[in-house]
Amino acid sequence: MFTYQGISIRVVEQRDLERIRVLRNDPSTWIYLTDVLFVSAPAQERWFAKISESTDRKYFIVYDAVHEFIGIVRCDEIDHLNRSMRIGCDIVPELRGKGYGSRVFDLLLNYCFDFMNMHRLWLLVIDTNQAAIRLYTNKGLREEGRYREALFRDGHYHDYITMSILEDEYRSRA
Ligand SMILES: CC(C)(COP(=O)(O)OP(=O)(O)OC[C@H]1O[C@@H](n2cnc3c(N)ncnc32)[C@H](O)[C@@H]1OP(=O)(O)O)[C@@H](O)C(=O)NCCC(=O)NCCS
Repeated sequence: MFTYQGISIRVVEQRDLERIRVLRNDPSTWIYLTDVLFVSAPAQERWFAKISESTDRKYFIVYDAVHEFIGIVRCDEIDHLNRSMRIGCDIVPELRGKGYGSRVFDLLLNYCFDFMNMHRLWLLVIDTNQAAIRLYTNKGLREEGRYREALFRDGHYHDYITMSILEDEYRSRA
């Protein structure tokens, strides 16, 4: 586990799978993700077996003293040679808009730069996800470019925006 300013992450365990699946299958979550297919319980078990063995992607449960399941953090495309990693998080619908995403990103930046020794953190966000874009911009991530009309959502094509923050940008903000 890792704690930063009252919020914590821990590894995903078997007992978390159903809650992760419910969060992933909620339309208010998947509408913003790359894949719009729903996840079945057996598929979730296979996913868990795969991530448990994986060295280049890690998932964490977010919790604090009050809430045992605030959401999930994704760290994938972990590249130790180039010290680069993709990050992301999903907050449960009932806790969105209360500052948890912001606190999770403070934790993630601290963990990835000061403990994982990363040089670059990056992510992809659909152009309709105003809450996420605002959050990432607030935390110092910058737009690098766009995969134009890369995502088809609700009958329209949307850009997939790539954003990143470098170690020195993080340190100069801190
Ligand atoms: C994106 C997400 C992680 C943000 O977490 P959150 O806890 O809701 O965000 P916070 O409450 O910390 O707010 C972060 C910023 O976004 C803004 N924000 C929150 N909800 C918003 C909304 N619906 N529209 C516009 N801005 C919004 C907040 O005002 C805040 O900015 P501010 O500090 O300048 O006021 C969360 O909403 C979520 O899980 N969404 C569904 C899944 C998802 O989009 N995952 C990310 C895929 S890239």
